[in-house]
Amino acid sequence: MAGQCPVRHDLNMFDSAFVADPYATCPAMQESPVFWSSDLECYVVTRYDEVQAVLTDHARFSNAATNVPVTPINPEAQRVLDEAEVWFRPNLTNADAPRHTMVRRWVADAMRPRRIRALEPGVRAWAAARVEEMVTLGTADVYEHLCFPLPAITGFTLIGFPEADVEQLKSWCDRRVVLTYGRAAGAEQVEVAENVAAFWRYTNEFVKSRLEEPKDDLTSDLIEHHLEEPEEFSLRDVAAVLFGLSIAAHETTTNLMTNGIRQLLTHREQWEALMADPSLIGNAIEECLRFDGPVIGWRRRATEDVEVAGTVIPQDSVVLMLLYSANHDPRRFDGAEAFDITRPDARSHLTFGKGTHFCSGAPMARMEMRVVLENLIEKAPGMRLVEDQVLDFVPNISQRGPRGLLVDFAPDRAPALA
Ligand code: HEM
Repeated sequence: MAGQCPVRHDLNMFDSAFVADPYATCPAMQESPVFWSSDLECYVVTRYDEVQAVLTDHARFSNAATNVPVTPINPEAQRVLDEAEVWFRPNLTNADAPRHTMVRRWVADAMRPRRIRALEPGVRAWAAARVEEMVTLGTADVYEHLCFPLPAITGFTLIGFPEADVEQLKSWCDRRVVLTYGRAAGAEQVEVAENVAAFWRYTNEFVKSRLEEPKDDLTSDLIEHHLEEPEEFSLRDVAAVLFGLSIAAHETTTNLMTNGIRQLLTHREQWEALMADPSLIGNAIEECLRFDGPVIGWRRRATEDVEVAGTVIPQDSVVLMLLYSANHDPRRFDGAEAFDITRPDARSHLTFGKGTHFCSGAPMARMEMRVVLENLIEKAPGMRLVEDQVLDFVPNISQRGPRGLLVDFAPDRAPALA
């Protein structure tokens, strides 16, 4: 029997207190498995079982809501996007079957394990050089030197973007999440829209160049599918997949690294345990994903009236799943509030989603994080967080990680003589 849907006014995901520590809200949010948020004007699902049920019920919860801007785009920013013709039909993250099934298969094929494995030596060499550089510097921003550029370079290499363009591409990627998941002020929206427009133009030109001259990369593989089915999968669709992929591959993995390093150094005994037994790295990555994951919320839309834990979610409603809260649900994880790299069921987190849309890039993100941790353990075992630093987060409903993390890489080294 369905009951009255509770309403909450205290989920304020754009507040500085929330972004600094969303986990403090878990007990209050989990009081009701489903509620209506007056601030976000959508249904919110908070507990593990219910979030998992929504994620995997593809018939009754569509992915169409995934990338809809949470704050309407202002006319000036919209004009910038329109001039660059930034529009495309749903292909992957925001598509449903059967279109999703077809494009996902092609993308999965283009991201085949052999291709991801082939990226690893480059990732390893690049990460090693950056860690050595930071150790030489003494104190360094691990976000700026390592966590931001590494996933960008890796993702762009997978796609096939030329190395010479990486610096330009990285600068266009800054704060992209604001436009879809944030509550940006007018001027910031316009600035980000200009970057998005430039990136979109670049991507379309790049697709045309690969059509003329294919290479061994993901883009060229997708163009082959375009040539087989030009109507169903146009060149614009190819560009749209690259566009989405570059976002999916970048911010998320950056935040996994920065959040993970922060938690490991904050819980020093866990860092020491990892150094004592590096075979724990695989499970430590899963616990980083669970405990302080890079994706805190994800959306679906109800295709019909659906009852979830006694509340009817009406057809067409947007549903926000609080992944951070599900991952800290004490009904699912013993001692959910403890960061424990030996936790036996850490891998049950929902940070990569679940079901037919489960993250296609999970193996690549795990590989990059593993390489980073291996390098840090080997080259900077004594590293420590710089104390009392104020962390800066971009307030938004989905992606979370600090835009800067100062680490002292050689705390035991004597200061240089003046
Ligand atoms: C720690 C890093 C990452 C996290 C936490 C993450 C998380 C997610 C989540 C939550 C979804 C949506 C799942 C759903 O709708 O049920 C997703 C989808 C996706 N991710 Fe990731 N992701 C990460 C890294 C990557 C990387 C590195 C790539 C690509 C190289 C990637 C590519 C994709 C793609 C293509 C999809 C769409 C899958 C589909 O709709 O079928 N992700 N990811």
